[in-house]
Amino acid sequence: MARVAIVYHSGYGHTKVQAEAVHRGASRVPHVDAVLIPIEKYEAHWEELDHADAIVMGAPTYMAGASAQFKAFLDATSSRWAAQRWKDKLAAGFTNSAGYNGDKLNTLQQFNLFAMQHGMIWVGLGLLPGNHTSQGSPEDLNRLAGFLGAMAQSNADQPAELVPPASDRATAEHLGQRVAEAALRWAAGAEPHQGATAADATLAVGA
Ligand SMILES: Cc1cc2nc3c(=O)[nH]c(=O)nc-3n(C[C@H](O)[C@H](O)[C@H](O)COP(=O)(O)O)c2cc1C
Repeated sequence: MARVAIVYHSGYGHTKVQAEAVHRGASRVPHVDAVLIPIEKYEAHWEELDHADAIVMGAPTYMAGASAQFKAFLDATSSRWAAQRWKDKLAAGFTNSAGYNGDKLNTLQQFNLFAMQHGMIWVGLGLLPGNHTSQGSPEDLNRLAGFLGAMAQSNADQPAELVPPASDRATAEHLGQRVAEAALRWAAGAEPHQGATAADATLAVGA
C-alpha cells in the first residue's frame, strides 16, 4: 500500500485538468491510494500530506514561476522543513501555461528545489521527448519535451474543456502512474527488515 498526494492550484481550470490526469494515472496503479488536494483546501489536508509516500505538486506558470497561491502553500510548509518531517518522501511536479515554453521549466525547478530543501527524493518524468523529429507530431506523449516533470500548454483564449490537449493530459497521466509505481516500491523498501535490531543499526553506523 502506498499513498500519493497531488496538491495543485488552478486559477481558470486548465491546470486542474492536468492535475486530474495525474490523479487518474496514479489511481490506476493497484494498492495505491491517490488523493487530489486543491490549494484552497490544503490546510484541511496536512495529515494526508504528512502521511503520503509521495507528494506531487502542480501549478500554472504565472509570471515565470508557480502561481502565488501555490507559493503560499510552499511557504506554509516551513515548520515541516525545520523538522525535516517530509525527508525521504518522493516528490514530483507538473505545470501548465499558455506559452509553449512560457518559462515552465522555472516552475518545475522551483518545485524541485523546494523538494531538495525538504530532503525529498525527486521523480522525473521518465519519457523521451515527443514531437522533436520530422516524424513527430503534437499528438506525441511529452510533446513539450520536459524531463523534470510534466508540462502542458493551454491556449489563453480556450476553455479547460478544450485545452490542454490530449497529449498533455496523457503525459500527466504517465507522471501520475510513474510516481505511484515508484511510491509502491519506495514504501515496500521502507518496511522494517525482519530480525533487524537497534544493535544492528548501531553496528552499521559504526562500521
Ligand atoms: C497572472 C498570470 C501570469 C501568467 N504568466 C504566464 C507565464 O509566465 N508564461 C506563460 O506561458 N503563461 C502565463 N500565463 C498564462 C497561464 O499560465 C495560462 O493561461 C494557464 O493555462 C492558466 O492555468 P489555470 O487555468 O490553471 O490558471 C499567465 C497567466 C496569468 C493569469
